[in-house]
Amino acid sequence: MGAHLFVASIYDAFMVPADKLGFEQVRRMVVKNARGRVLEIGAGTGLNFQHFEKADCVLAIEPDPFMLSRAIGRIRDCAALTRARAEELPFPDNSFDTVVSTLTFCTIGDPLKAASEIRRVLKDDGCFFFAEHPIAEQQALAKAEKLLTPLWKRVAGGCHLDRDIVSYFRSAGLNIAEIIRLDSFFVAGRASKSDICASPGIEA
Ligand SMILES: C[S@@+](CC[C@H](N)C(=O)[O-])C[C@H]1O[C@@H](n2cnc3c(N)ncnc32)[C@H](O)[C@@H]1O
Repeated sequence: MGAHLFVASIYDAFMVPADKLGFEQVRRMVVKNARGRVLEIGAGTGLNFQHFEKADCVLAIEPDPFMLSRAIGRIRDCAALTRARAEELPFPDNSFDTVVSTLTFCTIGDPLKAASEIRRVLKDDGCFFFAEHPIAEQQALAKAEKLLTPLWKRVAGGCHLDRDIVSYFRSAGLNIAEIIRLDSFFVAGRASKSDICASPGIEA
């Protein structure tokens, strides 16, 4: 588990412009329809907590103790935080109605294992909502992201700019029910373990 005091201490300040430029709207879009018993993967400093409108209860995992201590201050009713990694979720099979991940799969050490774990803990009619930054579709941008990643991951807490993130979800056996390419950098979507996903879509 990598602990990143520096990244945790600047994270909220770093996200203010990104959220103002539209990412906050994306957070709301993918989090607002999370219903029932919800698991959030890699909660960071807890910026999503305020947007859970329909959840009965939110359990969040976060491996970094410095992020975790900031997220504790944002916890709301019926929410709980656990120090854990997405690759080894400390929960039984079929135990969540919804799993949410925003900007986390760029950093997870073994993203395919994490996606398999998400599939394992989702109920059969459960839904996985995500907003991530995969490698760009435009070749020139993708090339720049590949070149930048070795340096960027050292200064940005292990963040990779060059991952084909949605391919991990597919490889883990998740069905992509909906996917929206937001701009050159972000995708948001909804996936499920079976053809049935009981939650409304991200744009509903
Ligand atoms: C860029 S931050 C995103 C935080 C938050 N999800 C958000 O949208 O603001 C990435 C987060 O993923 C967490 N992370 C890194 N490795 C992880 C892992 N193996 N399992 C779960 N979370 C992880 C980091 O500690 C960090 O808090």
